[in-house]
Order: sequence, then C-alpha cells, then structure tokens
Amino acid sequence: MPELTLVDGSGVRRDFPAKLTWQVIVCTVIAACGGLMFGYDIGISGGVTGMDMFLEKFFPEVYVRKHQAKANNYCKFSSQLLQLFTSSLYLAAIVGCFIGSICCKKRGRKPTMQIASVFFLGGAILNAAALNIGMLIAGRLCLGAGIGFGNQAVPLFISEIAPARYRGGLNLCFQLLITIGILTANVVNYATSKLHPYGWRISLGGAACPALLLLLGSVMIVETPTSLIERGKNEEGLHTLKKIRGVDNVDKEYEEISQAVEFSRQIRHPFKNLWKRSSRPQLVCGALIQIFQQFTGISVVMLYAPVLFQTMGLGENASLMSALMTNTVKPIGTLFAIFVVDRFGRRALLIEAAIQMFISLGAIGVILAVHLHSTNVVEKHYAVLVIVLVCVFLAGFAWSWGPLGWLIPSEIFPIETRSAGFSVAVIMNFVFTFLVAQTFLTMLCHLRAGTFFLYCAMLAVMCLFAKYFLPETKGVPIDEMVERVWKQHWFWKRCYKDHDTGEGGLDKPKDNTIA
Ligand code: BGC
Repeated sequence: MPELTLVDGSGVRRDFPAKLTWQVIVCTVIAACGGLMFGYDIGISGGVTGMDMFLEKFFPEVYVRKHQAKANNYCKFSSQLLQLFTSSLYLAAIVGCFIGSICCKKRGRKPTMQIASVFFLGGAILNAAALNIGMLIAGRLCLGAGIGFGNQAVPLFISEIAPARYRGGLNLCFQLLITIGILTANVVNYATSKLHPYGWRISLGGAACPALLLLLGSVMIVETPTSLIERGKNEEGLHTLKKIRGVDNVDKEYEEISQAVEFSRQIRHPFKNLWKRSSRPQLVCGALIQIFQQFTGISVVMLYAPVLFQTMGLGENASLMSALMTNTVKPIGTLFAIFVVDRFGRRALLIEAAIQMFISLGAIGVILAVHLHSTNVVEKHYAVLVIVLVCVFLAGFAWSWGPLGWLIPSEIFPIETRSAGFSVAVIMNFVFTFLVAQTFLTMLCHLRAGTFFLYCAMLAVMCLFAKYFLPETKGVPIDEMVERVWKQHWFWKRCYKDHDTGEGGLDKPKDNTIA
C-alpha cells in the first residue's frame, strides 16, 4: 500500500511515513460497529412505533386515534408518551457521553467502546422482554447509555488511528455503519411486522446483534497510540504506532504526539479549558456542526419516516417498504463520500448538500401544503414524488452533514481538549435529536407543512456557515490543526492573537516542523 506524503497549505512537504494497513482497516470496521448499534436503534424505533401490535399493547390511546376514520392527518400520531419512548434514549445518551468522555481520557478509547456494547446489550434484552412501559423505558435508558459511550469513543478512536490522508474516508465508516444499521432495522421491522403479536420483541431484541459484534470484535483491536501515550504507556504507544502504520520509521509522528501529550498534561481540567478563548473556534464549530446536522431535519425524516408515509395515506406495509427504499439511498451516498471526502474536502460537500437538501425539503413542504389537508389522503403520484424527494434529501445528507457531523468534531480539537470537546459536540447531537424527536409530532400537528419550511431556513444558514466559518481540515495531521488550520483562518485567528495559553498560562510549543 502507498506511503503517505503530506503537503500542507504552504507547500511544505510533511512526511509521516505510513501505510494504510490491514490493522487500521480492521480496527476501523470493528469500531464502526458502534455506528451499527446507533443506526439499528434509530431504524427500529421509527418502525416499531408504527406497528399496530406495539401501539395496542403499550400506547392504546394512540392506537385508537390512529384508527379513527376522521383523525386529523397531521395530528393522529401525536402523543407525549410515544414521543418520550423515542426520546428517552437521548437523555440517557447525554449522560453516557459525558461519563464516556472522562472514561475515554482516563481509561482509553477501547474500554469505553466495550462498556458501550455491554450497556447496549442490556438494553436490548430488557426491551425484548418488556412487559410494561416501565421496562420499555428502562431498556431505552440502557440503550441510550450505550450509544452515549459508543458515539463518544468510536469517532475519536478512528480519527486517531487513521493516517491523516485517509482520516476522512475511514472515519466515515462510522456513518456508513449507522446507515447500514438503519437499513437492517427496516428489513427486520418489515419481516416482524407480520409476526403477530410478538414481532416487535424480535425487532427490539435484535439490537443485541450489533452490540455483540462490537463486544467480541473489540477484544481484537488496538488502543490508539495517542491514548496510550496520554496515559504514560509510551513504549506500548510507540509499538502500536509502528504496528498500525506498517513502517518502523514512525519517529516524527511519535514525537509530535508526545509533544502534544506533554502540553496536554499541563491541562488538568479539560472541560474548564474548553471555555478559554483559544478553544472557542473548535468548540463553536464542533458544537454547531452537530446542531446543524440535526437542523437539516434528518431526525424528522429518519425517526418518523414510516409515520410520515402513513400520514400521507400509504398503508402500514407500504410505509415500511418506502422507508426501506429511502434507506438504501443513504449507505450508497455515504460510500460515495468515503471516496471523495479526502479529495474534494469537507466544505465542498457540506455546501453542495445544504443546497440540495434545501430544494428537496422545500418541495416536500410545498406538496404537503397544497395537497395534504387535515383528513384527506394525498394522491398516489404525489406520495411517490414525496418519496423521490426524500431520497434526494437523504443522499445529500448521507454524503455531507451526516458523516461530517461526526468526523469534523473528532479531528479539530487539540489533544488536551479532544475528548471533552468532542463530548460537548456529541451531546449537542443528542440534545437536538431529543428536541427534534420530542417536538416533531406536535410541530407537524400545529405547523403542518410549515415544519418543513422551518428546516429549509436552517439549511440556508448552514450553507453560509460552511462557506465562511468552517475551515478545511482535509489531509492535515490531527495534532497540527491549531497551527495549520485555526491560526490561519480569516475569522478564527483572532482567538490566538495575544497569547496561545493553556490552563496554566503555558505557551504551546510552536515547533511542529516536520522536515
Ligand atoms: C445522525 C442521526 C441520523 C442518522 C441517519 C446520524 O449521523 O446523527 O441523527 O438519524 O445519521 O443516517
């Protein structure tokens, strides 16, 4: 496999000898199973909450309303309890992610992923065996904790083991497995929806499979060199670095990591340090990109796609089928991004996709506004057009804001604030997914098609953000971001004007020259 030659913006060659080794590929795929857990859950909850047998058992009042002949199209699924079922997971994920970030720093990325899989496994068992709504919610909380730990550790892990030149593509495997998880869940839901009255138990219990994959697979993977060196295991760190880079000459990279870690040792309170001026660029961009990921309206489309299709008058089966179809588009979109993200860069994808999603969501809004009234059913050809537009929207998301929402925050923070900063970004994802999930059905009920125009307005703002405030990070070694990216950016460089000081008022070593 090829040796890597890095060339920075100023044309200076920076060589970190490295091959794209099998170790890196295998470790990436195993870790990305964390994405499979996340995706499976997203796909399953959307489908299960549309199943009659599930609604009848746990949410009888929604079940009755759904079958009332004259129920309002925009309001028939609105139920606080049903929304709580979907969103409770995100509350637990927020706590899980915060504790996971401390665990990542103190114990390493690998054990954090293992804890994630154990929580997720427990949640799957509780849900499959649920006898009442209490057990159902308890299971959701365990799954949420698992997702919190997992989504914190996996993207960081991949970004740290990946050679700079392939970091984007490798990190995007996380999103690829999220989308494969969603697709798998849709297939499972489609099959189990016919198994009365316990099909939903199989759907929810199936979450155990990705958890087991991560748990068993994680025995084989390495810890990241950065995390080993950060925890004083320098020898092991050097050895691992040689192993994953596939070359003996890793001195330059090792030295750079050691230097970054040395500086980070003087920072005792990473969370406190995050609020310093010099952390502001990464904190603002990391958090915003995750918030914006949710403001694309993706969770609206994902969590409630089957519900949305039913609202348009497609039957239960047709809805699951269309959700299946639209979800096939996403892995394909993300696969495309894997090959182009390190070539075209992050910003080009973000800007193009924001425009594409703006147009498709706007068109969906217009169709619903004009053709879907309170109690009618949309004509078939319009329903089909909405499905096509959903596909266009999802393709755009899948090669941009979806995967890059995880990649960018995992690569922009310096080591001293990396775990803490990334956790803030991930927590933002959960908070806003929660808010969107908790409010969407109510919003749809009151704002109707206007809901979609609201997300369109957000997409316009996001496009401008990506164009003017987000620097390009492709190909830059992860520990050189501050010098080569943030200090060079027309807007963010102001945060480094006076003194680039850390918590103890220490200057960060400027010498990161790599001949
Ligand atoms: C997002 C989820 C979304 C999923 C869809 C993830 O990156 O965080 O909110 O449902 O992608 O593929």
